[in-house]
Amino acid sequence: MLEKIGGKVVTEVQKKKVSGKTIEVVKERTEGGVLHWGNENSPDMDWFREEIKKAYGGRAPRVLDPFAGGGAIPLEAMRLGCEATAIDINPVAWFILKCTLEYPQKLAGQARPLPKFAVESPEFMEAFLKGSGRLTKKQVEKELAQYQRGLFPLPDVDLAWHVRAWGWWVLHQARKDLERSYPTIDGKPTVAYLWARTVKCKNCRATIPLLKTRWLCKKDNRRVVLNMEPNHERTGVVFSIADIVPVVGGNAAQRREHDKRVGAGTMSLSGVTCPSCKSPSMTMEDIRLEGKAGRLGLLMMCVVVDGKDGKEFRQPTEEELVIPTECGSLLDRCFEDVPFGVPNEPIADKEALGIRIPLYGINRWSMLYTQRQLLALGTIIKHTRSARARMSIEGYPSVWSEAIEMYLACGVDRLVDYANMNTKWKIDVPTINNSISRFVIQITWDCAEGNPTGNLAGSYWLCLNRIAVGLDTLVAFPSGLHAPTVVNQSATTKLPSVDLVITDPPYYAAIPYSDLMDWFYVWLRRCVWDLSDESKLVMSSPLGPKWNTDQCDGELIDDSSRHSGDALRSKRGPIPKSGDQERDVG
Ligand SMILES: C[S@@+](CC[C@H](N)C(=O)[O-])C[C@H]1O[C@@H](n2cnc3c(N)ncnc32)[C@H](O)[C@@H]1O
Repeated sequence: MLEKIGGKVVTEVQKKKVSGKTIEVVKERTEGGVLHWGNENSPDMDWFREEIKKAYGGRAPRVLDPFAGGGAIPLEAMRLGCEATAIDINPVAWFILKCTLEYPQKLAGQARPLPKFAVESPEFMEAFLKGSGRLTKKQVEKELAQYQRGLFPLPDVDLAWHVRAWGWWVLHQARKDLERSYPTIDGKPTVAYLWARTVKCKNCRATIPLLKTRWLCKKDNRRVVLNMEPNHERTGVVFSIADIVPVVGGNAAQRREHDKRVGAGTMSLSGVTCPSCKSPSMTMEDIRLEGKAGRLGLLMMCVVVDGKDGKEFRQPTEEELVIPTECGSLLDRCFEDVPFGVPNEPIADKEALGIRIPLYGINRWSMLYTQRQLLALGTIIKHTRSARARMSIEGYPSVWSEAIEMYLACGVDRLVDYANMNTKWKIDVPTINNSISRFVIQITWDCAEGNPTGNLAGSYWLCLNRIAVGLDTLVAFPSGLHAPTVVNQSATTKLPSVDLVITDPPYYAAIPYSDLMDWFYVWLRRCVWDLSDESKLVMSSPLGPKWNTDQCDGELIDDSSRHSGDALRSKRGPIPKSGDQERDVG
């Protein structure tokens, strides 16, 4: 029975490259089974849904997840034909739940014609005809023009393709505005700008780039290092690029040791060594003090471009060095069309669980970005918002345009994870990485600023497309399933009566959900807060809920910083101890 439902567990050995070495990773996965993903429309699944109903006297059981987060439990409940209710206190969770559970089900099985601008774009149509599996590459070459001229009929398409089409529209509006901010030099599109945070040496006052490593690329067939020398006046450093770094050493340990020396940065666990006066002048405490005094800087070290034979590393041009600051003068104008302006909302205190950046003086969300990144995000949001009016002109029903706007906002939020100064450059692939990999926000010393207007990692287009790929799966679910009810409230308030409560509650003192989600919430709110009466209500506060002492309610995690440092009070959560004057939340 278990095998019929869950499938068989099979073991697989996969080869993976880690730091230039191939290793074998043993992975387990399930094979077959009614619940296997992709089975949503199969007769086996229908049989299973009927069996579940039979167990509940012929009706769909009502399932509640009061801590629904990203919605794994209500999604599975919906797949099984249950009537699910998904509750979460956090507005970002509410937003994700609407996008994974509600809209795809509301619009499952529905399709409408692509907008005119998408049909007129050969690039988009080529991506559509190939990507949707309608034509092969050869057929596209032969038939693209006929489709565009209306000689061959175009099929109506589902929500996921409309999201791609409007993402395409937003991208092209944003590209026009941002062209000068992301110049293409010598015909080679920019992949990333690599930066280091800087501090002034306590000993000689020279500017020190804070670098963990100077390796730019470290693969078997490509080894590139950033060289660094004190400048003539010894007030800072000059960089150059060593493109062919030889492998030196008779065995693996010697080679590792050599590579460590060749690519050594300026930072170690004990502190920072100044490349100008060579003294180990700054401790981490010194750097924290400089940060809090607002004296940490940023220095562009190198530009990565997309060359004929792959990524190339070069020094920044004069123009490239000034553009990021010049973008600052365009921010006011850009954010005039974005509700709530530049996101200057505060980051949680340094005492908060998992939040480390305020230790270095970064205490407002806008401080995590270059001026150019703020401009790019503001511009993309401005056009995301203006897509609403265009959709109405194109005759989209409101449920469609609301859903499309929400997924465009998903694309923006995914971009936020790449377009900030906490992103790193990966030397083994080499590419830009996203920022959030653990449940903490630490400072990143050597950062990578991607190109949101391009087509590679860190671009809006790839982020948006990733959202659309997820949506491809969700809109293919059968249309007769019950769209779950999504509610933004605390699990401590009155809950609906149900047959089953299945949940995955907060991980106590492990994850500061709301403090982390605020990073994304502040942008999300600027995209969609006024999309509906519901979103206005859910997104009315500048930040996600933490703890409300008066109401004795809020996010249920153990973080004493939310209880004025009172560790015992923090552990008790909303349950009043007998004799307390607190509200009985039942
Ligand atoms: C472990 S996560 C749930 C993860 C989820 N199973 C998923 O698939 O992503 C716990 C969730 O509880 C939510 N939460 C914390 N306190 C809450 C409260 N008082 N009421 C409702 N939700 C709360 C958090 O916002 C978080 O999304």
